Amino acid sequence: MERQHRHNLLVQENHDEEAREMFAMELSGHLTREVFPGTRCLFDGRIAPAFQRQHQRAPNRTETRRALLQQPYYQMWSSLKRTDQEILFDSVGETVDRQREDLTARGKRPPRKAGGTLRLDPAIKPPRYLTAVDIHCMPGNYTADLGGDDVSAGAIFDRGLFLYGRGGLGPQSDDMGASVCAWLKKAHPGFVPKDILDMGCSIGGNTLPFARLFPKAKIHAIDVGTGILRYGHARAEELGVAIHFSQQDAEHTSFAAESVDLIVSHLLGHETSLAGYKNIMRECFRLLRPGGMMVHTETEWSTESDPFNQSVLDWETHYNGEPFKTKLDTLDNIGVAVDAGFSKERVFMESAPSLRAGTKYYQGRWAIFGATK
Ligand SMILES: C[S@@+](CC[C@H](N)C(=O)[O-])C[C@H]1O[C@@H](n2cnc3c(N)ncnc32)[C@H](O)[C@@H]1O
Repeated sequence: MERQHRHNLLVQENHDEEAREMFAMELSGHLTREVFPGTRCLFDGRIAPAFQRQHQRAPNRTETRRALLQQPYYQMWSSLKRTDQEILFDSVGETVDRQREDLTARGKRPPRKAGGTLRLDPAIKPPRYLTAVDIHCMPGNYTADLGGDDVSAGAIFDRGLFLYGRGGLGPQSDDMGASVCAWLKKAHPGFVPKDILDMGCSIGGNTLPFARLFPKAKIHAIDVGTGILRYGHARAEELGVAIHFSQQDAEHTSFAAESVDLIVSHLLGHETSLAGYKNIMRECFRLLRPGGMMVHTETEWSTESDPFNQSVLDWETHYNGEPFKTKLDTLDNIGVAVDAGFSKERVFMESAPSLRAGTKYYQGRWAIFGATK
């Protein structure tokens, strides 16, 4: 596995902390590679045939999940996976906590300036869907702010995401953005946006590829979390990429109507709510100039017709603090876009190959939902 790109703000583990992180990450890999396939065998070999015999039909998504939950082997996998997820994020959280003051000081003085900006707004309150649970067991969530220019939420996300993805997102955890950029170049070669907005940017890992692909564009990146934005700003400056970060709710931003050519998001939708998601789509329609495009990217689960894959995604909803995931997976996205104002024929749902498909992270593809105005 490639090592994470080291920059000035990345948390620095001591020997024991690193050993614990590596243990959690390797256990996650072991569970995925060696233990999890057994749950598929259980489903294909026992659960589905037994259900078919009893009901003369295949089980649906809920029936599949409930049947799997009765199986001791599945219970073992599920319990270990949840526990490992907690160990992984708690390990990073404790390491970040130990270095909090130092990280805060470093966040205020990036070693290099790129010309980006940071605008925080204390009036922005995080929506309840971001505070009600610790999403994917991340302690304190995206919006924690311990005061005094704290950057710890960003530090936890940066290191935690890299380990969670077992390095499969690349040294700068930017594979989604980079893969969407490659897709965009191929699918829309003449499209050259002047103003780009990344919604739910967190530390801006996936924002950077857009700035690199469109060096003349003005890049805006918004999130509701203060700590992650401070961290993202300092990180982008050090990496030499000018991004304009601001604290805003993607449901209702302060940008002028028809002021953006390209709106992107990565892993935003599944962490919202139905009402929030619909508002975000309406906001995209309001913000886009005629001819502009929105591109929202999520992980590819291949849930269209496979109840086992659906149950895998639903595990995230029930046991990994991702409450909106199943709803988003079953949502009529085209209908939501049309209700937001987009024409049906201009809505698209595609999947883009990951530039790091060799790692087989999330089936080697990213699911894209978008529209042009
Ligand atoms: C899974 S993270 C993805 C971060 C980043 N896009 C990436 O790919 O690394 C989702 C982010 O969306 C943000 N978010 C969720 N709802 C939001 C909203 N209504 N407005 C702004 N940001 C939001 C969260 O704070 C979080 O940072």
